[in-house]
Amino acid sequence: MKRMMIAGNWKMNKTDEEAIELTSELVKLVGDVKEPKVVVCPPFTSMRSVRDIIKDSNICLGAQNMFWEESGAYTGEISSLMLKSVGCRYVIIGHSERRGYFGETDEKVNKKLKSAMKHGLVPILCVGETLGDRDRGISKDIVKGQVEKAVKGLDLSQVNEFVVAYEPVWAIGTGRPATAEDAEDMISFIRSLLVDAFGDKVMDKIYLLYGGSVKPDNIAEFVSQPTVQGALVGGASLSADKFASIVEKSKV
Ligand code: 13P
Repeated sequence: MKRMMIAGNWKMNKTDEEAIELTSELVKLVGDVKEPKVVVCPPFTSMRSVRDIIKDSNICLGAQNMFWEESGAYTGEISSLMLKSVGCRYVIIGHSERRGYFGETDEKVNKKLKSAMKHGLVPILCVGETLGDRDRGISKDIVKGQVEKAVKGLDLSQVNEFVVAYEPVWAIGTGRPATAEDAEDMISFIRSLLVDAFGDKVMDKIYLLYGGSVKPDNIAEFVSQPTVQGALVGGASLSADKFASIVEKSKV
């Protein structure tokens, strides 16, 4: 059976009070769901509040970013150790907004992945081409470069779980998702890159997600594709009803 995951990336949204309200709703709506696996990634300021609310549910906690050093004079940064200490299990790494606005290079992504895995966090690695890349017909070259540089030197035999989200930049927050067929095509390409790098065996540890304008009315098309194992959801994860509906429609 295909294992599925629906992860919500709240981005820079929700005050602590709002995060508490959203999480409390989510626990009522999807707290018992085991399949798909449900992950929420609130801002750092609400990680503890969210953790306390989800602690007796099946919802897992994720973060949106981290720095690769464990501690030290890195003003404003958060380490994997700190994330672990607030009950975080997942961490988004290499989101296109971090690559685009905050200078996150493939090399930095690689360092973050290594640090996350060393400390037992499950990375949600994001890759995806821009509209310009797509227009130039180089989407697969871009994604191949991102995947190969990100996973360079990683030992996936030591981990239980690893998540890769294909998020075409032009589909994020635009209301213009990729077609399910295009998502499947790129995600099966990513799968082949991972098989080349790590062998077939690791694939049962890996979740391959699609992200970019996922909504309750389009999720079914994505998850019905053979290789797509769920979604990384931005805007629609800010509404408990919409996110819960996406979760419900991803049940296999
Ligand atoms: P939207 O679902 O708002 O397009 O965002 C997708 C995303 O960036 C998730 O990480």
